[in-house]
Amino acid sequence: MAVDVRIGGALAVVTLNRPEALNAFDGGQIERVVEAFRSLKEHREVRAVILTGSGDRAFAAGADIKEMAELTEAEGLVFGRRGHVMASAIETLPQPVIAAVNGFALGGGCEVALACDIRIASDRAVFGQPEVGLGIPPGWGGTQRLTRLVGPGLAAELILTGRRVKADEALRIGLVNAVYPADELMAKATELAQAIAKNGPAAVRGAKRLVQLAYNGQQGAGLETELQLFGRAFGTSEQREGMRAFLDKRPAVFSDD
Ligand code: COA
Repeated sequence: MAVDVRIGGALAVVTLNRPEALNAFDGGQIERVVEAFRSLKEHREVRAVILTGSGDRAFAAGADIKEMAELTEAEGLVFGRRGHVMASAIETLPQPVIAAVNGFALGGGCEVALACDIRIASDRAVFGQPEVGLGIPPGWGGTQRLTRLVGPGLAAELILTGRRVKADEALRIGLVNAVYPADELMAKATELAQAIAKNGPAAVRGAKRLVQLAYNGQQGAGLETELQLFGRAFGTSEQREGMRAFLDKRPAVFSDD
């Protein structure tokens, strides 16, 4: 099972569970996340959701590079759109979603955390948008949501260099709200979820939407352009080299063509 959903009273915990690939999102895992969040929408008794990763190494190490490596341009666009649908299923869930980031949140993993309403992290968390090193731009909302969260200068640095950000820096730049020792993370996430769940559920749902309206603005156009450029990257030799290099466990060598 690639995604576990556990409902207990007013809280639900969704766990990305593909530890052999550091919880990377292949097509199956994307579909299961979408199904999980669509079904939570129907669970009116659930008032707050925690999203985390199984094991102690990763929240999610990104989109599955093995699955992406040989995609054509058309297939790349479809894969990008599936990631957008997943991020949107999380973002538009009426109930608030807290990302409890317990390790690597890279690429698509960082983008999924960014689609949540609130992020808290363990002291072992590592964030990043390393896609350009694989010959593609971020394609699941990261260019838009990271920029809105941490500001354009910092987002440009992180996205254009692919530099990784550890928990203490993530806290300093506002990428996460709080950092806790790894063994306290889920208890702290539960406390936060409970503090939300005790409030008026309709008011909370309305307030979630209103915060997003303030934050998202014209995000739609940016997301669509991101998707087009992401798809187009799969028609380039850069993407082939970047992803093959990762799978061959060697540094990528990019030429100018
Ligand atoms: N897609 C597919 N498989 C992935 C993956 C991904 N995004 N990230 C990790 N894995 C797999 C590895 O291929 C490896 O599988 P293997 O044992 O069959 O070779 C396994 O998960 C463990 O990863 P490994 O790289 O051996 O662990 P590490 O501790 O040396 O490094 C990371 C951990 C997260 C730094 C490294 O796995 C990494 O850079 N992953 C890719 C991150 C990325 O670029 N994400 C963006 C994708 S858009």
